[in-house]
Amino acid sequence: MLRFPDGFLWGVATSAHQIEGAFCEDGRGPSIWDTMEAIPGRIADGSDASAACDHYHRWRADIGLMARLGVNAYRFSVAWSRVLPDGRGAVNAAGLDFYDRLVDALVEAGIRPFITLYHWDLPQALQDEGGWMSRDTADAFVNYADVVSARLGDRVQHWVTHNEPWCIAHLGHDSGHHAPGIKDPPGALRVAHHLLLSHGLAVPVIRRNAPGVQVGIVLNLTPSSPASQSPEDVDASRWFDGFFNRWYLDPLFRARYPEDVIKDRIAVGHLESAQLPFVRPGDLTAISAPMDFLGVNYYSRVVMRAGDGAWPQSVPQVPEEELTDMGWEVCPSGLTALLERLHREYAPPPMYITENGAAYSDGPDETGRIKDTRRIEFMRGHIVACHRAIQDGVPLRGYFAWSLMDNFEWAHGYEKRFGLFWVDYKTQERIPKDSSFWYHDVVTANGVDDSTS
Ligand code: FCB
Repeated sequence: MLRFPDGFLWGVATSAHQIEGAFCEDGRGPSIWDTMEAIPGRIADGSDASAACDHYHRWRADIGLMARLGVNAYRFSVAWSRVLPDGRGAVNAAGLDFYDRLVDALVEAGIRPFITLYHWDLPQALQDEGGWMSRDTADAFVNYADVVSARLGDRVQHWVTHNEPWCIAHLGHDSGHHAPGIKDPPGALRVAHHLLLSHGLAVPVIRRNAPGVQVGIVLNLTPSSPASQSPEDVDASRWFDGFFNRWYLDPLFRARYPEDVIKDRIAVGHLESAQLPFVRPGDLTAISAPMDFLGVNYYSRVVMRAGDGAWPQSVPQVPEEELTDMGWEVCPSGLTALLERLHREYAPPPMYITENGAAYSDGPDETGRIKDTRRIEFMRGHIVACHRAIQDGVPLRGYFAWSLMDNFEWAHGYEKRFGLFWVDYKTQERIPKDSSFWYHDVVTANGVDDSTS
């Protein structure tokens, strides 16, 4: 049995848009995802999140699921457009009350709330004014952070500004697979900057409202390595790391954008010169305001080689049957390597694994049991990987499984199931998977059995 340090947090994570449903209730305004889901063909299974897991009505029972797991932390997000239906201006009291009740009930159950302020659901009203392409949205975010932290800061100790700015910038504004569905690669860099800026500007506001709280950001970080030692493949790996990881880590921890990535972008015409047009004096100082923690979402790694065209390519490392339902390679050792690299190169104060998990479709068998053995092995491998990093001196303080229950997986709709609890979307019944019993044992023992890894 590998034991974790006393006080290690064991949690589960969700996000508002993926679980709440109740689009039109209690004054909630529309978000960019509502808009995206209404466009035929944008969501793989043709679904939308208007009902999702109906958590808006079932939240008490869902806290009951957490109590069954025995977790002592819960990471969830606030839907901006419930609190400020137009993105700024009048506060919707009913929206804020919902999160107030949720926080009270969590605290009462001995579960620490970790709030994410922005998990991708921008109020549509702000998108209509330019969304994250516009610098004004950063100011709107700071106002929103002010409203929420003023109300909940007395009970919530951990605050995350943004979830995965890379996804917002690139999936939302470059490939266009995510809301708001824009395809503008140079614009995606502007978006990333406004997100980082809004983070930096919100940090002191949250601290002012709630002295002593911990504020951080969550990045999705993916280690890359070269397919061979050829200079071209080594450069392809550098390219990916810069685009995906360092474009966010460097401004946050070193107050600058990485020069090699700027050169890459000039080479493909996404930037005209090293003078980034969207950066104003003082921005990088604001962005690099010291944080209290870094949240790391880890799902997989990539192996890169030089591409046939202008872009490097990732090379599959394992046969298809060993990939998760997302098509992602299972690679626990990548997590240890990532945490050690972050500690060595950026030294975030503490870190939390704010998401880790796997999509597998296993559902109830004829007896109603859900034998999701692959998920258990996935989690075991990654929790052991966390333990290794801690042994090597990495200040890792907690682990959040993605996700408490199956939910609306963005452009994939309900087809991908990440939950420890199965959701029957017709009845909204939650059925425990074997992984939920297994995770309960890990949480209660504050340790993991590594015998099969
Ligand atoms: C992350 C997101 C989360 C969920 C998982 C599978 O990128 O933060 O909402 O979709 O992936």
